[in-house]
Amino acid sequence: GSEIATSLSNDTVIVVSNRQPYRHRYQQNGEGESTITVDRPTGGLTAGLDPVMQRLNGTWIAWGDGGADRDTTDEDGKLSVPPEDPQYTLQRLWLSDSDVNGYYYGYSNRALWPLCHLAMGNTEFDSEQWRQYRAVNRKFADQVLEHTTDDSVIWFQDYHLACAPQLVRSQCSSDQFILHFWHIPWPPVDAFRACPQHQELLEGLLGNDLIGFHVSQYCQNFLECVETLVEHADVDYDSGRICHGGRETVVKAFPMGVDADTIKRQSTNVPESMWQEFKNEFGLASDLRVVLGVDRLDYTKGIPERLQALEHLWAERPEWRGDFTYVQKGSESRSEIPAYQQLQDRVSTIIDRINARFGSDDWQPVIMIGEKLPRDTLCGLYRYSDVALVSPLRDGMNLVAQEYVASQIDDDGVLVLSELAGSHERLGDAVISVNPYDTEAHADAIEQAITMPEAERRHRSRRLRRKVHNNDINAWLHDMFDTVDQLRGNTGS
Ligand code: G6P
Repeated sequence: GSEIATSLSNDTVIVVSNRQPYRHRYQQNGEGESTITVDRPTGGLTAGLDPVMQRLNGTWIAWGDGGADRDTTDEDGKLSVPPEDPQYTLQRLWLSDSDVNGYYYGYSNRALWPLCHLAMGNTEFDSEQWRQYRAVNRKFADQVLEHTTDDSVIWFQDYHLACAPQLVRSQCSSDQFILHFWHIPWPPVDAFRACPQHQELLEGLLGNDLIGFHVSQYCQNFLECVETLVEHADVDYDSGRICHGGRETVVKAFPMGVDADTIKRQSTNVPESMWQEFKNEFGLASDLRVVLGVDRLDYTKGIPERLQALEHLWAERPEWRGDFTYVQKGSESRSEIPAYQQLQDRVSTIIDRINARFGSDDWQPVIMIGEKLPRDTLCGLYRYSDVALVSPLRDGMNLVAQEYVASQIDDDGVLVLSELAGSHERLGDAVISVNPYDTEAHADAIEQAITMPEAERRHRSRRLRRKVHNNDINAWLHDMFDTVDQLRGNTGS
């Protein structure tokens, strides 16, 4: 680990997120005995922040769930992690089923998630769920206050915790620095004002000293929301400063990166023989090319749109049948919410249709992998696939795109990336860009990727890798904590 911001000594950072980085589960072994297994939840936030916390030490407060989580912590819900080499403290916060339904499956993921991704048809604003969201934010705030010392830096993550900053602020002295990183997009004011709780959400977030978004457009949208919807707020667009209630909040873009060196090392360690084994296991001919998609099964990821583009390609240009298989690694997500069940059904229906329409005895056009893959298998998939398709309809950043790039140590893979993902701002000029809503252009982009000459592949891949390494997770952290230092009036010594 490199040095992090000057003013931070160990143990001063308190990270607060809904999702925890390590999850414990009971599993029955062959003899019917139950053992405890640990796994890593899917999703950019925890994958990105765990290496950060391993450098910062400190405390990470997150929702812990179920029996095995409880049995692996001490009485107060504390656990040292990561399990193999403890670096920081995970403080689990216990939530009841009703809390989880109202706050997580309810307001967070039926109101805020679709609202921020402009999926207005999926939004539900339920006042009871809102009450539970606020109540759970109160629980998080109380837990934070228990851990807070004079020089704490309290760092909230994402849309599950919009009310908590103001709740903490109103009960602690001004010495503590509170910042928030919002990992998903912030919508334009015309969309955000449709949310009945818009004012409370904004006021909750204005309890922060600093709010970070991935790209400047989300900052701009947020500032416009505050200016339009919060009374007596003064907004300065150039500096990103907001004055409200006698306090100041700064809004700034910090595009997140990945742990590029670690990913590079991991994919270097995956032998080609493993790739052949993978192909055998999934019935892929050894010379077949592979086009890859890796997503949580979420309606924002543009998976049906991607499959329709592939279907269009195979229908209109039959010469590509049998040339490559599309492998979709799709992890089940938020399945208790009807919009997610519908998405899963829709994806399965389209895959079945494509396979029935074009498949033959020795070629299956699309393969869906639903199970969790070990980290090195995923690295192998990234490294050896010929093309990756990342086509969200809207995405705060999308770290899969950057992970794919960081894995391209042979410089021969091609990335097709949606113009509507935050990461397009950084990678856009070296990828094949696509508007996922435009099926024909999307199919053309896939064809361009699979026919790209080797020299161009290498050239683009090198440029992309340079960008991803120069803007990795360490750079992100430095950038953010340098700003924290400046705002605390601490230029570092
Ligand atoms: C997105 C969100 C994260 C979330 C992740 C996985 O990346 O920004 O906050 O953790 O999705 O979703 P889940 O609901 O399983 O935590």
